[in-house]
Amino acid sequence: MSLSDAAGPDAPDPYELLSWYAEMGVTEALDETPRNHFAEPAPAGAGRPQLRSLPGRPAAPARPIAAAATAPDDATVSAKALAREARTLDELKEALAKFEGCALKATAKNLVFADGNPEGRVMMVGEAPGADEDRLGLPFVGRSGQLLDRMLAAIGLNRQNDVYIANLLPWRPPGNRTPTPQEVAICLPFIQRQIELADPDILVCVGAPSAQGLLGFKGIMASRGKWVEYDTGARRIRAIATLHPAYLLRRPLDKRLSWRDLRALRAALDGKN
Ligand code: URA
Repeated sequence: MSLSDAAGPDAPDPYELLSWYAEMGVTEALDETPRNHFAEPAPAGAGRPQLRSLPGRPAAPARPIAAAATAPDDATVSAKALAREARTLDELKEALAKFEGCALKATAKNLVFADGNPEGRVMMVGEAPGADEDRLGLPFVGRSGQLLDRMLAAIGLNRQNDVYIANLLPWRPPGNRTPTPQEVAICLPFIQRQIELADPDILVCVGAPSAQGLLGFKGIMASRGKWVEYDTGARRIRAIATLHPAYLLRRPLDKRLSWRDLRALRAALDGKN
């Protein structure tokens, strides 16, 4: 007996249903076990905040709908204040965990803060977690992360000892979509503070959104491999942008460009450029 037979003759084919979910961008289950939300009574006060009370019934207190309820400008102001107050990387991680100003938090499974060695001389900042990173709570652990590790190994670096790794956004955008400019603006104060607190000698922006968000670069192809200064707030350090490993997995011929960037990074670490 097939699954659809078991569910009754009118039930949708489960395989078609799953393909439809995948096409719509529903690629993750948020709970361990499936839940039929339609069968459950709505919790008191849930849903849209009530604007008017019904006759004879007091209005339920308006409840913020997760993170999206914070206006973007307020969210940026509060992100700046929280980030500034954090005196250590642990405090910054705690502040991010409590921050409700970015709607991505509501759909992500985990906060993805950092991996590697915060004492490393190099800090790499990617775009945002993907599905594997979201599940494990660590940046660059999926296929692009494995390629990044091999690229680092090619210049004698390894993530546990030499490199501190984070992302422009610490929560996964649903379906891995590109983060919106508003999401980037809201999360920017946190990653800027993370760079300041980690205090690396060299910042490497991995991919276009990171290069644009942190270095103001437009067009990764034209700007990759060029050294610039980055002001952490405490001191000026060297920074460079390079191609994202996810892009290199799609366009392996462009690995030769990344190889140039990596050699430039090696030379900078050795004091040779
Ligand atoms: N891509 C990124 O930019 N960051 C990750 O952590 C994973 C994939």
